[in-house]
Formats: sequence, C-alpha cells, structure tokens
Amino acid sequence: MIFEVVTLFPEMFSSVMSSSLLGKAVEKGALTVHLTDPRAFTTDKHHSVDDTPYGGGAGMVMRPDPVVAAIEAVEAARGPAHKILLAPTGAPLTQPTVLRLAALPRVMLVCGRYEGVDERVRAFCDEELSIGDYVLTGGELAAMVVVDAVARRLPRVLGNADSQLDESFEAGLLEHPQYTRPAVFRGAAVPDALVSGNHARIRRWRRLQSLLRTRQRRPELFARLALSDEDRALLDGEEP
Ligand code: ADE
Repeated sequence: MIFEVVTLFPEMFSSVMSSSLLGKAVEKGALTVHLTDPRAFTTDKHHSVDDTPYGGGAGMVMRPDPVVAAIEAVEAARGPAHKILLAPTGAPLTQPTVLRLAALPRVMLVCGRYEGVDERVRAFCDEELSIGDYVLTGGELAAMVVVDAVARRLPRVLGNADSQLDESFEAGLLEHPQYTRPAVFRGAAVPDALVSGNHARIRRWRRLQSLLRTRQRRPELFARLALSDEDRALLDGEEP
C-alpha cells in the first residue's frame, strides 16, 4: 500500500515511519510512504504557503495554490490516489474507515496547518477525516495516526493474523483484559478462568469482560450491539 503525504513538515514523519512495526512494514515493502512539501510548489520569492484570512481575524490560512499544485504533481508523477484532507472538521476516524482505507492501493493524506486551509482545497479531496474532537497544530499527527492504524491491517504487517480477530472496535466491542507472566504481580493474581486450561471457559470469560467493559466505559457502543442469547446469559449470570 502506498501513502502519499502532502505536508509542510515532512521531517515530522521520519522517526515514526522508521520505528517498530511501521519501519518493518516499510522494510518488507508492504508499506511505502512518499512525502511531498507544498512549499516546493510556491511561485513567489518568499515561498509563502499561508496568508491572512479574507474578512479579517486572527491567524493565517494555508493558501490553496501550493497545496493543489502538490496534489496534482504527485498524481501526475505516480498515479491517481484516494485523497483525504486531515482537519478537525472531518468525519471521525473509526475502525471501519481504517479497514476501508487498508483495501485501497494509494491514499493521499493532505495535512492542513496553521488556523486552517483555504476552503477551495476541499474540492480537490475525496473525503475529510478528523482523529478526534480536539484541535492539533496541524494534520501531521493525524496523518501518522491514519498510516499507523491502516498499516497494521495490511497483510504481512502484523506477525500473527489471530491477534486481529478479537480486537477492540472491530466487532463494536472493547477488547477483553490481557495478562501475561508473572501469575501473581504485587498481590494481584491472574483470573482463574485464564489459567484453567478450559478453552470454552476462557472464551466465555473474555466475552463477558468485553461486554462489561464496553457497557461501563462506552455505553454508546454498547447500545448499538446486537447481543446474542449467550451474551445475555453471560450478563445475567454476572448480575445479582
Ligand atoms: N488537524 C488539527 N486537528 C485535527 C484533528 N483533530 N484531526 C485531524 N486533523 C487535524
């Protein structure tokens, strides 16, 4: 999978893209990230990428011309991409969106900066995504979040395909608690079910924990679940 990132701060990406799982994905050729700086597409002598807002107000707005020139140059050089603008006004990034993007061959992430991007840039993008209801100084960290979440869903990136099966959010549930050695840590023992060796019991314990956690921590996700008869029985068994 190829990511094309359009950013005024390409240097922000180097450590994230070379570390850990992402670094390995790049090494294996499962993931390619090209960085393009719109500043290289400015035509004035000061290489301006931003300007004051029409109508007045504080802050600077990213000019549309260098960004759109960068988008067009990338597509002319390497082919069409699904283009995403990262901005706090976008649709919230969720795991279903991550899975949809992981199936695409080439995704372009356009990072906004400063107080915003000229509205006319939106017409050159296919969608707009936000990573949450807070405002970052720019779209770069959001773009890295998208690359990270998508990359771990690519074939050949995660070592163990099983580890993707019961993941948080994919079934609309939070993941169950996980334990490893030691069996007792500072007086806290691993739950009996997990050391029972009884696979059916372990599965039921994990399912119940996922349900309880989701109900407690994310009631809006819980409300959307289609509970099975077994889920209801597990929850009933739990309740006094
Ligand atoms: N740029 C600034 N804040 C952002 C956010 N929450 N998501 C995506 N891009 C952003």
